[in-house]
Amino acid sequence: MSLTKKEIVALLSDDANEQELFKRADDVRRKNVGDEIHLRGLIEFSNICRNNCLYCGIRRDNKKVCRYRLSEEELIKTARQGADMGFKTIVMQSGEDMYFTAERLCRIISAIKKFDVAITLSIGERSYDEYKAFREAGADRYLMRIETTDKELYHRLDPQMSWQHRYECLLMIKELGYELGSGIMVGLPGQTLESIANDLLFLQDLEIDMAGIGPFIPHPDTPLAGESGGSLSLALRTMAVMRIMLPDINIPATTAMESLHPNGRIMALQAGANVVMPNITEEEYRSFYALYPGKAGADDTPANSRSRLAQKIINLGRTIGTGYGSHIKKSLIDK
Ligand code: 5AD
Repeated sequence: MSLTKKEIVALLSDDANEQELFKRADDVRRKNVGDEIHLRGLIEFSNICRNNCLYCGIRRDNKKVCRYRLSEEELIKTARQGADMGFKTIVMQSGEDMYFTAERLCRIISAIKKFDVAITLSIGERSYDEYKAFREAGADRYLMRIETTDKELYHRLDPQMSWQHRYECLLMIKELGYELGSGIMVGLPGQTLESIANDLLFLQDLEIDMAGIGPFIPHPDTPLAGESGGSLSLALRTMAVMRIMLPDINIPATTAMESLHPNGRIMALQAGANVVMPNITEEEYRSFYALYPGKAGADDTPANSRSRLAQKIINLGRTIGTGYGSHIKKSLIDK
């Protein structure tokens, strides 16, 4: 539904009545996307990044990070293990690591596609031709958060990056027929509720298929170490309002939420979320993909985290999706 900026700010600032907001978002979720929770197997295949975002633990200038990249064989093997565990979507995420050329990535995508899974890429900004090649090789979806629509704030946080260019990448990805996921961080230094409201309106305008919303968590080895970060409560409220604005999209319960509270993802699943992306990267690499401290699941095995999560989902009275879990536009069903 459409909300005005004023209405959004009112919902975001009303912490006294957040339980009502969560209930409303939960109802909208049930009516529009049902009780299935879609699990995506997330592979963090390289933490090497050419960018230097002030908030991010794997920024280029953080010399304390032990850098790694999976070989083609390891990456394909991890994806196969994910498919064998029952994941119907594999998410390939990395820093902007140019070792992974279009040719290499296309080879990997075609190999993984044989496991009968949907493939989501989350590898940042690339050229139109590269996005096109990945799509032709079999990639179905693309995730890239806009992070904030406050351009001044964006350029303060990513001095060498261009907001406009990131936006153009999102448009290219959409034009190429990917399902498009975007999103933001909540609680960035200097970010206001008006700014978050603008972000939500932007995501609605862009007609995204998936929205990832997480609290900003300051990382000790970054220039933003001393900042205060976002609260789980505000992140959940933002997510709940997104659900009300875009009733039929996919919304993940994000890892950053779980990192602020041991039950953060379950809380999110009861406030509008319908997707979880468990990490299936081999244990030996997990702790190195520290975008922020205390990242949930850093010391777990893929099989363990999946089965514990499955039990929690059943306890909520929900079910685990058995299909690919694509965005199905309600308007198309109702017609
Ligand atoms: N706190 C929370 N989220 C972060 N991300 C990166 N660094 C942080 C942090 N310190 C998020 C960004 C990015 C996604 C992969 O992780 O939104 O798009």
